[in-house]
Amino acid sequence: MLPTPLREAPRLAETLGVRGRMLLKRDDLTGFAVAGNKARQLEMLIAAARESRASVLVTGGTPGSNFCQAAAAAAAWAGLRCVLVYAGSPSRISHPNLVAATHWGAEIRWTHDPDRAFVDVAIERAAAELTLDGHVPYTVPRGGATPLGATGFHLAALELAAQLDGPAVVVVATGSGGTQAGLVSGAVALGRDLLIRGASVSRPPDEAARRVLELAGGCARLMGTDIPHAADVVVDDARGPGHARASEEGERAARLALRASGTVLDPVYTAKALGALPRILGERRHDPDLTTVFWHTGGLLDAVAGWETR
Ligand SMILES: Cc1ncc(COP(=O)(O)O)c(C=O)c1O
Repeated sequence: MLPTPLREAPRLAETLGVRGRMLLKRDDLTGFAVAGNKARQLEMLIAAARESRASVLVTGGTPGSNFCQAAAAAAAWAGLRCVLVYAGSPSRISHPNLVAATHWGAEIRWTHDPDRAFVDVAIERAAAELTLDGHVPYTVPRGGATPLGATGFHLAALELAAQLDGPAVVVVATGSGGTQAGLVSGAVALGRDLLIRGASVSRPPDEAARRVLELAGGCARLMGTDIPHAADVVVDDARGPGHARASEEGERAARLALRASGTVLDPVYTAKALGALPRILGERRHDPDLTTVFWHTGGLLDAVAGWETR
């Protein structure tokens, strides 16, 4: 259900010490399954899978992956088989995202290797096996981070601009980089009235920025718009103790978001990004003329997950 709502959040701004106007872009409310912002990139990826006459969608991540869960739902909706390759081995307690993905009909495979980076290799291997068995796989790397997936967020930046009446700083959680990449590509196409600031929750910021720049370039090429420069990609550190581990800053922000705006944030992505928002704005926090948009990417099932299940 697009456009997703853009809501005023004056009490949240006040509790975070942000003087200007603050808005929440509620991409947790895209309306497709429990996919949050992932619905935007999956719309593009599923269309490409269909176009290539694929019979099976193959992707992967960690058992807590919101993207995998959303991909399973999208594949079910599109009538495609879905194979998910997860890092590590099955654990006693399943993460709600894994439970949901299984429930949507995805077939689960494990790498038996805790290294998350190995998942992308395992996805290609699974696809090769499926091909040998006569299936037509469509592979998607972790987080759906491809230039094509990012085009969904390029369009989302245009959607936001149409809802706003001027420039804004946009703060968004960055993991595999596709979301920020698409928003940056869209912001550059619009003439840079939107300043996109990524809060990296899993990778060192310079590594995340390199990935985002590359994906944003690929996305802009697909859209036929201006190629973003390195200066368009700004990533701050919101990792706290590391990927999928709650940060104190994030936990505090999640409590504030619930009390001040009735918004549920997950500890892995959105809470960390909102927690980092005052730091990201720096002195501009005190500027009454600044409009800040916090991009709520979703992650609802992560919000209710126990840490031991990741
Ligand atoms: C809830 C949520 N927010 C933000 C992100 C980060 O998006 P990206 O991986 O495109 O950087 C993810 C990625 O899985 C996510 O699940």
